[in-house]
Amino acid sequence: MPDETTPAPSPVSAPDGPRAAPSPDSAAGRLAAARGPALASEEPSSPLPRRLLPDNHEVSQGRLTVGGCDLVELAKAHGTPLFVYDAEHLRSRCREAVAAFGPDVAYAAKAFMCVAMARLAHSEGMCIDVATGGELHVALAAGVPADRLVLHGNNKSMGELRAGVRAGVGRIVVDSFDELDRLDALHAETGARPRVLLRFTPGVEAHTHEYLVTGADDSKFGFTVSTGAAAAAMERARASSAVEVVGVHSHIGSQVFEASSFAKAVAVIAAAVEPYGVDEISFGGGLGVPYVVGESAPTITEWGEAVQSACRAAGVTARVTAEPGRSIVAAAAVTLYTVGTIKRIPGVRTYVAVDGGMSDNPRTMLYGSGYEAFLPRATDAPRELAASVVGKHCESGDVLVRDAAVPSDIAVGDILATPVTGAYGHSMGSNYNKVPRPAVVFVAGGETRLVVRRETHDDLLACEQPEA
Ligand SMILES: Cc1ncc(COP(=O)(O)O)c(C=O)c1O
Repeated sequence: MPDETTPAPSPVSAPDGPRAAPSPDSAAGRLAAARGPALASEEPSSPLPRRLLPDNHEVSQGRLTVGGCDLVELAKAHGTPLFVYDAEHLRSRCREAVAAFGPDVAYAAKAFMCVAMARLAHSEGMCIDVATGGELHVALAAGVPADRLVLHGNNKSMGELRAGVRAGVGRIVVDSFDELDRLDALHAETGARPRVLLRFTPGVEAHTHEYLVTGADDSKFGFTVSTGAAAAAMERARASSAVEVVGVHSHIGSQVFEASSFAKAVAVIAAAVEPYGVDEISFGGGLGVPYVVGESAPTITEWGEAVQSACRAAGVTARVTAEPGRSIVAAAAVTLYTVGTIKRIPGVRTYVAVDGGMSDNPRTMLYGSGYEAFLPRATDAPRELAASVVGKHCESGDVLVRDAAVPSDIAVGDILATPVTGAYGHSMGSNYNKVPRPAVVFVAGGETRLVVRRETHDDLLACEQPEA
C-alpha cells in the first residue's frame, strides 16, 4: 500500500454546470492559496493544463499524441481501458532520481510493476524496492541483478526471506523483532548473513495534502524511535551474527508535498543513528505529485536537495538514499477509456460511465483522490460540463473522477482520458466483477510496445480447479 489515508470528500459540483472551484479548506484549496500566479490562473473548466500530461506530448488540431502516438488511434488498436506510458518520461524521472540520490536510490515497484518497468528502472541505474515475494519474483524474472534489489515488507514470511536470501538481494529492510527472529532461524538453516537496514519509525506526521503518514508512532511499520524500540533493535541486530547492519530506513508516508516534513524525519533519524555510525540511510519515498488543476509539487531534484541539505545540517555523514515510486511513474501515464453511457439527472448530476473503473484505479474509491478527465480528440477544448466519471462495476462508489469537467459535446463512443494515472492504478487493480485487467503500452518515438497484454476471460479461469 502506498500508505495514503482517506481524505475528506471533495466539494460537490454544481449540477450540470461548471465544476466548483476547490474549497479553501481542501488540499487543493490550500495549495491554490499558496501557489504562484501561473497555477492560480488555472480554472477547473479550462482546457486540461498541459503540465498534467506526460513530458513527450503534442497537440495538433486538438488531437493528443504521447511519445509520437495518437491516443485515439492507440485506443482503437489496443482496446480500452488502456494504460499508456511515455517511456522517455519514465527514463527521465529515473535519471533525475539517480542524480538526486546516487546509484543506491531504489524505484518503489509497488507504484507500478511489470517486467518492462523493472528493466527500464534498472537500465537507468536505479535499484528496485520490492515489497513482497511476488514483486521479488517479477524483478528477478526481469533479469535485474539480485544485488540491486531491496526487500521490504512489514510481515515478510519465512518463505519470502528465504527467497530473498537465496537470490542474494542487496538489502533487506527489517521491520520487526519477529523478522529478526526469522532471520536468526534462516542463518541457522543456511549460514546466510544478509545486509540489512532497520526501518525506524520517526514519529513524524507529514501533514500536507490530507494524507498521513506511516512515520507516526501509531503505525504498523518499523521500530518506533520514541519508545526505544529502534535503539533496542539496533543493539540486537548489531550483536547478531545473523545479519550485517548497514543502515537505517524511514518512510513517513505518501503524497507528501512539504519539504519540512522530510526535514523533521531527518532530524529524528539523524539523532537516533548518531550513537551507531551507520553507512547508509534511506528516507523512503513519498514525494507528492500534482493530480489536478491548481496542485503543484516539488520536483525530484528539489526533494533530493531538501533531504540532502537537511542531512548536512543534522551532521549526517552516512550515504543518503531514497525510494521514490509515485514521482517516477504517476505523470508518465494516461489511462484511456471508452464512454458507454451518459446519464443526465437534471438539477442533480451527470454521470459519464466508462468501460473500466475501480478495478483499474481504486484510488478515488479508497482515498477520495482527485483526477482530471479530458477528451484526447479535443485536448484543448474548454471543459464546461460538470460530471462524475464512473466505472462499470456494481458499486455506487465505483467512481474514477467525482468532480470531473469535460467538454459539453462529450458523447457515447468517445475516448476519455485520465492523466497522472501511472501510479497505484495498474498495480492496485483487481478483477472485481471478473473484469479482465487492462493492457499496458509503452510509447516512444512514434513506436508502441505492448508490455502487458490485456487479460482474457480465460485468464479469469486460470486458477480454477476441476471438481475431484
Ligand atoms: C517503504 C516505502 N518506500 C517507498 C514507497 C513509495 O512511496 P511513493 O510512491 O509515495 O514515492 C512506499 C509507499 O508506500 C513505501 O511504503
